[in-house]
Amino acid sequence: MSENEIKSLEEMFEARIARDEKIEPKDWMPEKYRKTHIRQISQHAHSEIVGMLPEGNWITRAPSLRRKVALLAKIQDEGGHGLYLYSACETLGISRDELFEQLHSGEAKYSSIFNYPTLTWADMGSVGWLVDGAAIINQVALMGTSYGPYSRAMVRICKEESFHQRQGYEILLTLCNGTPEQKAMAQDSLNRWWWPSLMMFGPRDAESPNTEQSVKWKLKRKTNDELRQQFIDQTVPQAEILGLTIPDPQLKWNEERKHYDFGEIDWNEFWQVVKGHGPCNKQRIAARVNAHENGKWVRDAAMAYAEKQEEKKLEQAI
Ligand code: 3HC
Repeated sequence: MSENEIKSLEEMFEARIARDEKIEPKDWMPEKYRKTHIRQISQHAHSEIVGMLPEGNWITRAPSLRRKVALLAKIQDEGGHGLYLYSACETLGISRDELFEQLHSGEAKYSSIFNYPTLTWADMGSVGWLVDGAAIINQVALMGTSYGPYSRAMVRICKEESFHQRQGYEILLTLCNGTPEQKAMAQDSLNRWWWPSLMMFGPRDAESPNTEQSVKWKLKRKTNDELRQQFIDQTVPQAEILGLTIPDPQLKWNEERKHYDFGEIDWNEFWQVVKGHGPCNKQRIAARVNAHENGKWVRDAAMAYAEKQEEKKLEQAI
């Protein structure tokens, strides 16, 4: 293809983005647009699947059948979110096997938040309230993303996330209305999960190598800092209802900005965790590799069954 032909395709593509049109798998797109989407959607999918592990730790320890059922439903939803997102990613020309290989080899990232341990039952509350709360803020914005399959996956995921956030918040509300020890457990959990939840939104915009281009392509509809601020503004009043103290002495409502001012995030901790040196990184990847290897027989059986069904259809057609 000549340079002029590519240039006119790029201009038509930019015009489509400007008109808020959805880009579909069979449409022409710049190679960088395709690669950026594979990068972000695959990391999102990996996050959903790895995110099942910290909560799975508490299924057998849930304090009641009702709590166990809600937790099971939530974790099952996360697996489904991973499948929608892997399927959306495959429309960009990468296979499920390649995606898993990238995760298992440590090449692919997933959200830093899932590399922290879930030490008490209150953490099931904080994960639902804060982690899924942060994910909702991010994913509601992504419903407007320019790539069709990603945008449509977000619509279904966001509906389920609101249940996730609400069941987490209700766990904490129950603890905060319980004994002093239960309230102390909830406060300890907030102390451990607050700052890692802010890190979920990524580095500051000024340090983000991807945000500017992702906003131009309408992959990102809001920047990392905008989403983080929206999360803080929404979550602080919820903590007040719980009667919990957010572990940030610099957190203060700024009437002029109409936002909360907040303290400095420990970016060294963030990058350490992103680079694989968090409390649970190795354990999480080992669990994923182990599940994948031990699940090979299930995949083989499903493929064999599908091939058998195909053979039967062919025999009937002859
Ligand atoms: N954890 C791990 N890596 C992170 C990160 C985080 N919290 N935040 C940023 N990074 C990485 C980026 O991947 C990028 O590395 P790469 O170029 O090698 O991929 C680098 O740090 C620089 O960050 P940028 O801000 O420039 O990168 P992005 O433009 O991709 O923005 C993001 C990061 C905001 C996380 C964006 O990728 C995004 O919105 N992703 C989709 C949402 C998502 O993945 N959420 C994760 C949680 S999913 C979840 O919580 C499920 C819920 O049901 C529990």
